[in-house]
Amino acid sequence: MIFGCLRIRLTFRVLVFIMNDVSAVILAGGKGTRLRPLTVFTPKPIVPMMNRPFLAFQLEMLSAAGVEKAVLSLSYQPNKIEDAIGDGSQYRSKVSFVTEPNPLGTSGAFRFAADESSHTFVVLNGDILTDIDLAKVFEQHRNTKADATIVLVEVEDPTRYGLVETDDDGRVERFLEKPKAEDVPHLRSRNINAGIYILERSVLDLIPKNEHSSFEFNIFPAILEKGLNFRSYLLGDGYWRDIGNPTSYLHAHMDFLAGKVGLDLPEIPVQIEIATAASVDRSSLFGEGCVLKPNSAVRNSVLGPGVMLEEKAIVENSVIWGHSRIAAGAAVQGSVIGRSSFIGRSSSITKGTVLGDKATIPDYSVT
Ligand code: GDD
Ligand code: MG
Repeated sequence: MIFGCLRIRLTFRVLVFIMNDVSAVILAGGKGTRLRPLTVFTPKPIVPMMNRPFLAFQLEMLSAAGVEKAVLSLSYQPNKIEDAIGDGSQYRSKVSFVTEPNPLGTSGAFRFAADESSHTFVVLNGDILTDIDLAKVFEQHRNTKADATIVLVEVEDPTRYGLVETDDDGRVERFLEKPKAEDVPHLRSRNINAGIYILERSVLDLIPKNEHSSFEFNIFPAILEKGLNFRSYLLGDGYWRDIGNPTSYLHAHMDFLAGKVGLDLPEIPVQIEIATAASVDRSSLFGEGCVLKPNSAVRNSVLGPGVMLEEKAIVENSVIWGHSRIAAGAAVQGSVIGRSSFIGRSSSITKGTVLGDKATIPDYSVT
């Protein structure tokens, strides 16, 4: 049986004020080591998220706030990123690419990529998924006449992030990258750097040209030392996640399927082949050309294009990248499977498994 379009959502085009004086830089040059093996052949900025290159969400977030031009700051596998994103028009953005000769660190990369003619910049870490309304951050930035505004989000465990302490009016007082576990009980808050900054030229001028430097270790402390107006914007109820490790990457998909991420997905009609006796729930997402044989089942999962489930294969709470095959009777639970992989018949791929591209799991295996 051939099925048509799977996910239908209405997308409302809201009239937005175009901010020509603001230019965006997305930091997308990290190696994505914590997301290995998924990032061996696919750089982190374009790993598929709900079957789209991850950066699609960031470019659309910028254009929704009226920021139409974005520079992608690249270092690792730049050609793959350029090929996947193109000119950005698909995401309502005008994209250009700047590749560093060698990694310059977060602020060094920003300095290298920044359009010198701009006065105000928005900088994004290229691995954060959020439904924040950036227009509100810009509004606060202007109202407070800030030199720098950093978005904060409250987390349970700040040790994997940059901890930010502020005064009651939201002025940044201290920045502490990756605080040690023993320091956590003494911290004044659990608010961390969400990887979104609005910066004025006064901050760009603090960053040395063509030198390695980091916002987190060098430039934020320098802003504080110079006494510039450094403000914070606390993301209240919004969604936020760094997708930079496999657990978080899978959770982001589960959050999308559960409707927790307030972002629209495009209406892309797909043709898939589902046997009458196969079972598919309403929340799962399928790419073009998936094939589900009789008595197979897909529950709460995202299948990339061309994925095939043979008879009685089951996929649950998982993400399967394109062109993988799950052989008869195999079960995949709570896992991420890379592109063009093969899961042998009657295998059991249990919760937490992460397989890179072209993995081959022999018949009857248990992971
Ligand atoms: N172009 C370029 N060059 N990009 C880089 C470089 C570089 O040398 N180094 C890192 N990046 C990019 C990464 O690709 C990523 O998108 C972003 O900068 C942040 O790097 P991560 O390696 O993901 O940092 P993190 O997750 O450990 O910590 C950062 O993000 C947290 C929020 O997720 C810090 O900014 C923390 O303070 C923050 O809390
Ligand atoms: Mg990160």
